Amino acid sequence: MRAAVCAAYGPPEVVAIADVAAPAPGPGQARVRVEAAAVNFPDVLLVAGEYQVRVPPPFVPGSELAGVVVEVADDVTGVRVGDRVFASTMVGAFAEEATVAAASLTRIPEGVDAATAAAFGVAHRTAYHSLRSVAELRPGQELVVLGAGGGVGLAAVQLGALLGATVTAVASTPEKLDAARAAGATRTVEHRTHDVRATLKELVPGGTDVVLDPVGGDLAEAALRSLRPGGRFVTVGFASGTIPRIPLNLVLIKAVTVVGFEFLDFMTRRPADAARDERELLGLLAEHRARPHIGARFALDEAAAALRHVADGRAIGKVVVEVQPPV
Ligand SMILES: NC(=O)c1ccc[n+]([C@@H]2O[C@H](COP(=O)([O-])OP(=O)(O)OC[C@H]3O[C@@H](n4cnc5c(N)ncnc54)[C@H](OP(=O)(O)O)[C@@H]3O)[C@@H](O)[C@H]2O)c1
Repeated sequence: MRAAVCAAYGPPEVVAIADVAAPAPGPGQARVRVEAAAVNFPDVLLVAGEYQVRVPPPFVPGSELAGVVVEVADDVTGVRVGDRVFASTMVGAFAEEATVAAASLTRIPEGVDAATAAAFGVAHRTAYHSLRSVAELRPGQELVVLGAGGGVGLAAVQLGALLGATVTAVASTPEKLDAARAAGATRTVEHRTHDVRATLKELVPGGTDVVLDPVGGDLAEAALRSLRPGGRFVTVGFASGTIPRIPLNLVLIKAVTVVGFEFLDFMTRRPADAARDERELLGLLAEHRARPHIGARFALDEAAAALRHVADGRAIGKVVVEVQPPV
């Protein structure tokens, strides 16, 4: 089968197409004929050998996929050959076939295409768990989303609005802010041309209830300062490459909570909340109320360009790799 392979750690351009053996499913696994895959920021870090988990090369990057089950191990009962499924995985999605844990597969709801399903997993789940369970966002509350044109950020804008919050989106370009407005943001702040701290104060004079931050860097403190007493700052990632150092006196004086969201930790430590969130989110997808915005599409041959697009912070919403059409 054809796959995009990372033969040695490096920039996105090290990823090249090669013919590799289709992986056979081991116990508890299923083999999926991949129609679409989606790119996540950690894919870039994994290829660079800079992620918190290191996968030794050669490996096939790609952490989200959608397609059809073509083989299951003898002990698998939850899914069957022919099921249309999507999944998140550490690596392996940028290939014509991928072998993944059968337990990680979710059936694609009726009427949802493969690209949409592939692009839905990581960003929407991260945003929904963070807002619904970690920040406990309520209808009528004020939400500020940093990186609001990116994968997690744009999902958070959409889901925050669906949860009934008033959303203020912060991003670098008018195009990203247009996408955020289309996803449900009421107010926008272009951080390259505006002082974020002063603008948030002006736009939300009563203070904000929740900040969702997938970016870090200088914007984090400016957004934290917008919180009202009792507000929650959820840190999700550091796409800017800079981990902010927040003065603790700010947290004390403002009486706010700073809390981290880490996917695996949340799923294992809060299984009941995780299961409820997953149910609700799948319902929103099935009803076509929650949808990823797909800002760019690439062929499998262009997997390196897809990774480059995300590495440079140019992605608006999700970037999809169209692997092969349905049979
Ligand atoms: N905690 C978890 O479990 C979890 C789960 C999923 C993702 N994450 C993390 O969340 C972060 C965001 O993921 P994502 O998929 O939303 O990424 P993304 O689509 O690439 O968006 C990241 C945003 O960060 C901003 N940015 C600023 N400097 C950047 C730079 N040098 N390179 C790239 N982006 C830059 C950009 O916004 P502007 O252009 O508007 O500044 C960009 O839109 C990543 O760090 C990822 O690892 C964490």
